[in-house]
Amino acid sequence: QDRQPYLGIYQAGVTTPRQPMGLVVAFDVLATKRTDLERLFRTLTERIAFLTQGGTPPVIDPKFPPPDSGLMGPVVAPDNLSITVGVGASLFDQRFGLAGKKPSQLVRMPQFSNDALKEDLCHGDLMVQICSNTTDTNIHALRDIVKNTPDLLMVRWRQEGFVPPPRAAGEKQSSPRNLLGFKDGTANPDHNNDVEMKRLVWVQPDSSEPAWAINGTYGVVRIIRNFVERWDRTPLQEQESIIGRHKPTGAPLTGKAELDLPVYSDDPEGKRTPLDAHIRLANPRTPESLKNLILRRPFNYSNGVTKSGQLDMGLLFICFQSDLEAGFAHVQSRLNGEPLEEYIKPVGGGYFFILPGIADKSAFLGQSLL
Ligand code: HEM
Repeated sequence: QDRQPYLGIYQAGVTTPRQPMGLVVAFDVLATKRTDLERLFRTLTERIAFLTQGGTPPVIDPKFPPPDSGLMGPVVAPDNLSITVGVGASLFDQRFGLAGKKPSQLVRMPQFSNDALKEDLCHGDLMVQICSNTTDTNIHALRDIVKNTPDLLMVRWRQEGFVPPPRAAGEKQSSPRNLLGFKDGTANPDHNNDVEMKRLVWVQPDSSEPAWAINGTYGVVRIIRNFVERWDRTPLQEQESIIGRHKPTGAPLTGKAELDLPVYSDDPEGKRTPLDAHIRLANPRTPESLKNLILRRPFNYSNGVTKSGQLDMGLLFICFQSDLEAGFAHVQSRLNGEPLEEYIKPVGGGYFFILPGIADKSAFLGQSLL
């Protein structure tokens, strides 16, 4: 299917199968009044409707700037585009009188022990996740949003990423690999399982969240650099102990095939899977850790070269959960100090609350909040 729905109780781009290209853009909101904030959300809704469903932009007098950048030709194709909008804690400051409506766990993303956060790559009043089949579709969508919101939004930071295409030859299961060469996504909860998604991802009526936030979710974005030169000089055995999986197959160290479940119960001393292996820390698979599951939807990124001549690449980590504390924050605190830290450095990102969906054609994004 090449066209993602833009109406529904949930926004697209969370449980949507991951598209090949992703782009996260964070904005500062320039609007200062509640009425302008509403105009911003109405404009975003209108643009999302057009961009995701596709169509022909209006033809106007050539004496004026064209309404569309023209990047995709005279007809804009949907190209599997989803646009997902979240809001940061700073939107709930005094500007719009929304303080009383802040989702209960929404805070400015804290600095974790291994982080070297760069201020100009962090946070934002508003976050837009743009995903589609191609980079130019994502850029077209971003330019369209920027063009239509000149007095309302200012770009703060952005990060592009990609998912490698399936490698056909001989691979049974097709989790794409990250830039450390390991399959990534194997143990993710099933995004097609509605019951599981309601339990882990979508805010439910019986939660401690404000009523407007029902059917939204917390979105965490982390730009995590990978020190690939160092990784590529690390013995295979050590790489596999650090992750807790076999590199060629993606199988857990206790299994043979990618989808074999890791077993830790008969290995309390970590003889087969080290106690500090990434996957064992991230999910110890105890009854209690069931409430800490998160839906990961990351992209690889490759940005160029650092000033010191190192390749600047890594993981545009994105995850969703209805309980931020039990989800990302808990998992990340368990990972603090993991051996993988020698090879990774989180440099940016933010915490956002992904708004509930646009119910029908008369509704707009964020309507329940305003
Ligand atoms: C699993 C790599 C960051 C949470 C995995 C796997 C790999 C991996 C290769 C095994 C395959 C899979 O099940 O998907 C990485 C790399 C990271 C990174 C290279 C940074 C550059 C993170 C972060 C978190 C996280 C920041 C959350 C705080 C998880 C979880 C699993 C996992 C929950 C599944 C564990 C399981 O259920 O068995 N990661 N990861 N990872 N990772 Fe990461």
